[in-house]
Amino acid sequence: MEALLVVPSQPRTLVTSPTPTVIAWPQGASQPHTALVPRTPHHTLAARLLLAFVITTDVHALARSNAGKRTMRAAVYDPGAPQSTSVVDQAAPKLHKKGFCRGGVLCEVRSCGANPVDAKFVIGDKFPESWLPWASRRVAGSTPGFDFSGVVIDAPAGSGFAAGDEVFGFAEDPASLRPWRPLHGSFCEVVDAPLDQISHKPSTLSWQEAAACPLVCITALQALEQHGVSEGQKVLVIGASGGVGHVAVQIARCLGAEVIGVCSGRNAEFVEKCGASVVVDYRQDGYIEKIAEHGPYDVVLDAVSSADARDKAASYIERVKPYVKTDGDRHNYVVFGGATRHWFLAGLKRFTGLNCFGRGFELFWIRMPGSSKSLSRLAAWADEGQLKPTVSATFAFDEAGVRGAFEALRSRRTAGKVVIDVSSSPSISSESV
Ligand SMILES: NC(=O)c1ccc[n+]([C@@H]2O[C@H](COP(=O)([O-])OP(=O)(O)OC[C@H]3O[C@@H](n4cnc5c(N)ncnc54)[C@H](OP(=O)(O)O)[C@@H]3O)[C@@H](O)[C@H]2O)c1
Repeated sequence: MEALLVVPSQPRTLVTSPTPTVIAWPQGASQPHTALVPRTPHHTLAARLLLAFVITTDVHALARSNAGKRTMRAAVYDPGAPQSTSVVDQAAPKLHKKGFCRGGVLCEVRSCGANPVDAKFVIGDKFPESWLPWASRRVAGSTPGFDFSGVVIDAPAGSGFAAGDEVFGFAEDPASLRPWRPLHGSFCEVVDAPLDQISHKPSTLSWQEAAACPLVCITALQALEQHGVSEGQKVLVIGASGGVGHVAVQIARCLGAEVIGVCSGRNAEFVEKCGASVVVDYRQDGYIEKIAEHGPYDVVLDAVSSADARDKAASYIERVKPYVKTDGDRHNYVVFGGATRHWFLAGLKRFTGLNCFGRGFELFWIRMPGSSKSLSRLAAWADEGQLKPTVSATFAFDEAGVRGAFEALRSRRTAGKVVIDVSSSPSISSESV
């Protein structure tokens, strides 16, 4: 006769009688597992005690402690290495509670999206460019990356997620960075993602496409929603071929707006396919007049103006602001980067709700906590065929790949998104216990 012991998470532990043995879990397994415990007449008292112990022990805790013994490969910011990044072996995270009410979900990463903020050491874009070496030292040891797509390994009961679920979202919240706590980003093989920052992956998108979505799509959606963009409004997207820009065009269309996009001529067809009704080539003479011709705009999303010296030189703010409506919305020229003082005001707004920007302008700062509902909305649009990120380059998950992704982003010339493919790398290794 056999007794069935159900282990409802992703442990690497199988208990066999009479002596418990810990064995490595098959690589890539992602479903809940069962362990068979044969009950024979030869059971010793010790074996019975052991069985009682196993049954009464919190199997989740046991699973988590075993998960914690696994190692994984992770990229880390490393100021001494080329491009200040390297890839190392480190302990995989355990499933644990974050704060008072934000649980986590343990996921095996398939792909992760790379963004300019990762290439600028998370905080480097909030300070003058000359501070970048300081920023790289400040985040030393942190794992870069926010976006990921992957498979749930373990999730708390009642969380709405179970082992084997395909998900996408944010592995970390940048506000979690503390002098004593590094960031645990998505450029690794296992993440413990906050429950309120993930959603089920849209089935029509590939792992790479799903990983390309969270940061750029949530930035665009939150910015458009905060400014009440709705049916029939006119939205100008500057930098419409980039990561944020190309999904901002699509999301503004999903909200019913008419979109005018600004990009270089070589990307004009791409931006048109994303849904822009008019595309203005900023490399042609008279492009500001062309922008003016199609105004006035209810909202401008400017994904170009930032503290980067090249973007500063090309800044659109003062030249385009006269063609933005001045009635109603008080902060309808929206930028995503800028000077330290603007990041300070953006932080104030983000954490207190107080908007101290001058009339007609603001620097918008994405908020990742609580984004799961918006991620589900994006997934629905994707599955309806209304939203599809374009992955322009996929890099391998090794040192050359991470450095290549950062180099591409620093060039400011990528169209669509840059992604790192983690699943093509060797699977998570297990330490012998
Ligand atoms: N505040 C936030 O919460 C937040 C969130 C996400 C992103 N961001 C910031 O938003 C900015 C955009 O991010 P991203 O991911 O879209 O960057 P990206 O993908 O690297 O942007 C590259 C694109 O920018 C276009 N571009 C460069 N210069 C241009 C110009 N003068 N006029 C028009 N287009 C130009 C390029 O097109 P061409 O090659 O055709 O010139 C290219 O397609 C970055 O500074 C990023 O750090 C902020």
